Amino acid sequence: MNKQKTILSGIQPSGKLHIGNYFGAMKQHIAMQEQGDAFYFLANYHTLTSLSDGNLLQENTRDVVLDYLALGLDPDKCTFFAQSDVPQTTELAWILGTLTPVSLMEKGVAYKDKVANGLSPNIGLFTYPILQAADILIYHSDIVPVGEDQKQNIEIARDLAGKLNRAFGDDLLKIPEEHIVKSVATVPGVDGRKMSKSYGNTIDIFDEGKSLKKRVMSIQTDSKALEDPKDPDLCNVYALIKLFADENTRNEIADKYRSGGYGYGHAKKELLGLITDYYAEARLRRKELEKNPSYINDVLTEGGKKARLRAEEVMEPIREATGLFRSFKY
Ligand code: ADP
Ligand code: TRP
Repeated sequence: MNKQKTILSGIQPSGKLHIGNYFGAMKQHIAMQEQGDAFYFLANYHTLTSLSDGNLLQENTRDVVLDYLALGLDPDKCTFFAQSDVPQTTELAWILGTLTPVSLMEKGVAYKDKVANGLSPNIGLFTYPILQAADILIYHSDIVPVGEDQKQNIEIARDLAGKLNRAFGDDLLKIPEEHIVKSVATVPGVDGRKMSKSYGNTIDIFDEGKSLKKRVMSIQTDSKALEDPKDPDLCNVYALIKLFADENTRNEIADKYRSGGYGYGHAKKELLGLITDYYAEARLRRKELEKNPSYINDVLTEGGKKARLRAEEVMEPIREATGLFRSFKY
């Protein structure tokens, strides 16, 4: 193994990716491919906890790969793959599960949230953090860049690594550092709540034309009149403008809010222009990539091979230490 730090993160191909995903996760993933030995994967087993439609999962997977590649992920700089291409992950997840107290899963906030939001309370959803721990631990990851909402799952991974090491031998698993991405606050959706696929309040990264315009124009604001001075920091439109505009533009727009005579309609038009420009190059690149479906396949196939090799190096000593009989080698 090389001496660079191993960076690992995953994203579920559970629907179209939105600008909350971009600023909360993807942008950092893309930046960090330069900073270590980065592994990024599509958490498709995790997606099965909330989606039972094979065709849709396949389509979403392809879309997420296209999105990442268009936005600048470079498969020559990182290992980009599908979770389902690394069977060692589910193998390790089972072993970790045998060391996990039910009470630890019962404390899972994401499970409770998801069930409260209408997802079916299946066992996969309940034990989701164990599979996520296996994702992290199977590559001896050092750094796991994730948003605040994933903090508990990273702590569970650290906890389970310690339990396995204590039960079967030190150094079988590496305890990862946490790395909570703090650079961005929660991105609000068009209704002002956290932007999320499950709330139907997203602005999708690669939406365009009339449909994008409609989305931006639907952002909720208060009912101040055009001529009234407005506080930019209380406005959802401005919260989004801040993500896309450079400092000068941000300040100019904030001044216009404060001085009055500038309506939310104006702000929305500026936001629409900013989003369109920000993703203009990526949009073109995505259209090019779309013409070559076998490339997507090749990227995942190559990434899968590299990820499996690394996972096997970690898994083999664990099989031995746990006393599991195996008549074959990968
Ligand atoms: P969703 O809520 O749309 O289902 P996920 O839970 O799949 O999104 O999140 C994928 C990644 O995107 C996570 O790392 C999460 O922290 C980040 N993320 C999702 N929504 C937002 C948001 N509104 N603001 C900031 N980051 C977000
Ligand atoms: N739970 C993460 C999310 O919903 C996705 C994920 C699965 C993940 N396994 C991971 C993230 C391992 C980081 C590391 O966004």
